[in-house]
Amino acid sequence: MGHILAIDQGTTSSRAIVFDAGLKVIASAQEEFPQHFPQSGWVEHDPSDLWATVAATTRAALEKAGLTAADIACIGITNQRETTVVWDRATGEPVYNAIVWQDRRTAAICARLAEQGLAPMVTERTGLLLDPYFSGTKVGWILDNVAGARARAERGELAFGTVDSWLIWKLTAGTVHATDATNAARTMLYNIDRGAWDADLCKALGVPLSMLPQVRDSADDFGLTRPDLFGRAIPIRGVAGDQQAATVGQACFAPGMLKATYGTGCFALLNTGTTRVASQNRLLTTIAYQLKGQPTYALEGSIFIAGAVVQWLRDGLKVIRAAGETQGLADAADPAQDLVLVPAFTGLGAPYWQPDCRGAVFGLTRNSGPAEFAKAALESVGFQTRDLWAAMQADWAGGAQAVLRVDGGMTASDWTMQFLSDILGAPVDRPKVTETTALGAAWLAGMQSGVCGGPEEFSQSWALDRRFTPQMDESTRDARYTRWQRAVQATMAF
Ligand code: G3P
Repeated sequence: MGHILAIDQGTTSSRAIVFDAGLKVIASAQEEFPQHFPQSGWVEHDPSDLWATVAATTRAALEKAGLTAADIACIGITNQRETTVVWDRATGEPVYNAIVWQDRRTAAICARLAEQGLAPMVTERTGLLLDPYFSGTKVGWILDNVAGARARAERGELAFGTVDSWLIWKLTAGTVHATDATNAARTMLYNIDRGAWDADLCKALGVPLSMLPQVRDSADDFGLTRPDLFGRAIPIRGVAGDQQAATVGQACFAPGMLKATYGTGCFALLNTGTTRVASQNRLLTTIAYQLKGQPTYALEGSIFIAGAVVQWLRDGLKVIRAAGETQGLADAADPAQDLVLVPAFTGLGAPYWQPDCRGAVFGLTRNSGPAEFAKAALESVGFQTRDLWAAMQADWAGGAQAVLRVDGGMTASDWTMQFLSDILGAPVDRPKVTETTALGAAWLAGMQSGVCGGPEEFSQSWALDRRFTPQMDESTRDARYTRWQRAVQATMAF
């Protein structure tokens, strides 16, 4: 007893990590699953793949740790957010594939709802923007496009859930249909002030209230796993969307603290405490975590391409064979050239929200080659983060802290982290544990089970690996950022 099993169900893979009571990683397992692109701009997952990879990796992680279910005090779940699953309550069968957060198929629906004047109500009640990114219009699409689905939903036969709800349903053999406040806050159906599903929005988006899961705290009781799954029923005690779990894992508990997670995309969250802050700069307002019925709010900036720009160097341009080569190439770039890459491969997220714009490169010369492209690619991550940083500083009168905590795969690149610090003009702190998403979920569950201490104790365990401090002089920083801004404007105008 005393160990914690964290499930991290992400966009490209499912992972399971076993932590000891001191929140040290004991073992982990990871499995990728197929991505489905039925049409341009559509992205789907098979919900049974999500479940199968979670079931397999949890078993594999326990085996690697040399532990059995009897050693596990509780389970914490963290997940790709917004991705939408609709299933039959009686059979547990999904009626359609999961529609992934990246999927743009409901852009026209959003445009129609915007014409009807719904956007201000969406932002006021949910803190979000009326965009296909969120779950609400995806649920409506499934009900309108799967034969008989709407009638079945109206008869109360269908259930909707983000991936956390789907996994809880599977883990508990259909006895619990629940989610946590952080995931509910990403649906465009949840009123983040009242802490309840919003009947007006559900009506406007054509989603019957009977389909929705019960909303609980992020550290709460989410039921017991089927005994046959691990050989013993294990309580599920923590649930949070992955970016919120990373905020918790980075111990960003005080208002003004902020983190940025660099995966495929980059998601920055600024804790604004119990005050809900409305963004004037096209950031999202969301729930960072909810404990004992009290939501803690955050401003969020979402960038869709961060680590994915390195994948593009590898799989698209084919100028590197492995991600680790990028840094060496960037070092070798000609300092006299100043290529600017705007990686709007799938449009631009915050603070621009331009789904239809596409990427561009500026400043090409006859000598521009792989090294210059690699440098521009890594720098694009820093420039985009500065856009978010500037929006956050402008939005929050309380003043964001002058330090950025970072995590995720890309933070292993010292070159990228140094440029990030240079272009922000602020320190960038990389913690010892960069597995912060799973750590956050494990802590939420561990705290709820009494295995781990409260936020203060957890904050003290946060340990710095390295602080990057700005080395670039101010006039260079300003000139380079101004050039980036011009490049973005030109890209959007194209
Ligand atoms: O909002 C989408 C985000 O939760 C996806 O995260 O790490 O699965 O790409 P990730």
